[in-house]
Amino acid sequence: MASLRLVVLVSGRGSNLQALLDAQKSGSLESRVIKVVSNKAGVAALERAQNADVPTEVIPSLGKSQDDFFAELRACVGAETPDLVILAGFMKILSPDFVDAFMGRIVNIHPSLLPRFPGLNAQKQALEAGVKTTGCTVHFVDHGCDTGPVILQRKIAVLPEDTEKSLSSRLLPVEHAALVEAIRDIETGKVVLQGR
Ligand code: GRF
Repeated sequence: MASLRLVVLVSGRGSNLQALLDAQKSGSLESRVIKVVSNKAGVAALERAQNADVPTEVIPSLGKSQDDFFAELRACVGAETPDLVILAGFMKILSPDFVDAFMGRIVNIHPSLLPRFPGLNAQKQALEAGVKTTGCTVHFVDHGCDTGPVILQRKIAVLPEDTEKSLSSRLLPVEHAALVEAIRDIETGKVVLQGR
């Protein structure tokens, strides 16, 4: 069992971050969230980090070129020498340079069974496609959008009466458990990334 240094990137609500913080507190994760970085000020995720005494930093993406934003983000994250960079509701597509800097160490949680429904509004995409089952995917990040090697997936049924809201809220606790389990699988060595 290794205690991994986690930097978590966020943009909003931060419920997946909260799941990691709770798992750390309860002892079900050895790994430690050492920093939370947001591209938006004033979001709930920052408050969740502060409540858990985790250092935070805001690097605004608005009004800045992509190159400048990701250069700043890369310096900030790199200074923490993280074992893993977790994307937990981080609403920016990573630049190729950023991905290269942390290749094999970036983990994302996505609310669909990839490769189906990548990108935004995955739950809405699943409803519109009329699938009977959807779920979430925790995966390593590569240069594509939601395309990297899958660590694990968890399924839920889509109910006939589901709306985007009901489906998203039933999926959310499943996401939380999946993210914690995936990080545990990496810290215990059950999951190892080979090549790309
Ligand atoms: C989650 O649905 C996650 O899968 C997606 O963005 C949402 C973030 O929610 N990438 P939260 O900020 O963790 O509550």
